[in-house]
Amino acid sequence: MLRAEGLSKRFGGLNAVQDVSFTQYEGEILAVIGPNGAGKTTLLNLLSGVYRPSAGRLHLLGQDVTDAPIEHRCWLGLGRAFQIVRPFPEMTVHENVTVGALFGQRGMTLPTARERAYDLLERTGLAAHADKAAHELTLLQDKRLEVARALATQPQVLLLDEVMAGLRPAEAQEAVSLVRSVRDSGISVLFIEHIMPVVRDLADRVVVMDQGQVLAQGTYREVTGNPQVVAAYLGTEAELQA
Ligand SMILES: Nc1ncnc2c1ncn2[C@@H]1O[C@H](COP(=O)(O)OP(=O)(O)OP(=O)(O)O)[C@@H](O)[C@H]1O
Ligand SMILES: [Mg+2]
Repeated sequence: MLRAEGLSKRFGGLNAVQDVSFTQYEGEILAVIGPNGAGKTTLLNLLSGVYRPSAGRLHLLGQDVTDAPIEHRCWLGLGRAFQIVRPFPEMTVHENVTVGALFGQRGMTLPTARERAYDLLERTGLAAHADKAAHELTLLQDKRLEVARALATQPQVLLLDEVMAGLRPAEAQEAVSLVRSVRDSGISVLFIEHIMPVVRDLADRVVVMDQGQVLAQGTYREVTGNPQVVAAYLGTEAELQA
């Protein structure tokens, strides 16, 4: 689905992402973890096309998209939910998702987009809130809306940046179920997450980043048993063990 080869991004003298390589296979849930400032969000920005890499190549569904703009990647099948959720606050929940459906696919008509948006609100548990203004939603509902908007673009790969952050444990568990149901519908998921129990429960494979580089890749057990990974998390060991 995705293949990154030596992806790098410099900001002035800082190597925010350096020589990152990984492959995501079809149907896989891949987690990207690492301490604050490790380069996770920058990597997602490289994948989604917000930034051009300083070096390296990116393939999406077998096509080289290294220089492709955001909307081209979206049309090819890459969807993204942001760490900082920014719905259109005065529009209704349904309208917000309709926008995703309308602009995420070429040739989409408004009636079809509206219908698809209703389906997605049902799937993400927001149907009862369809006609509320987006700014009236709770944090959990905001996160669901962000996922619904990303799904509205009909992705084959969905990128999620800390969609569980700030949620209570029971709410995070609901979000985990939602991500599983997304995968079960045939969409590959790449997610960034700090909450380790969520990573353990969801990820087929984990990529660990530290200071812009990939420190380790493997199953949750493999990477959390890796002494280098433990060292990178020193001071946050409790988090790793959780
Ligand atoms: N637009 C930018 N300009 C300059 N420096 C940046 C920019 N974006 C990120 N950085 C720097 O790049 C490094 C990686 O940041 P990034 O946001 O990718 O980390 P992260 O792993 O997502 O962290 P967090 O877990 O806190 O979200 C940090 O040192 C950050 O300050
Ligand atoms: Mg981040």
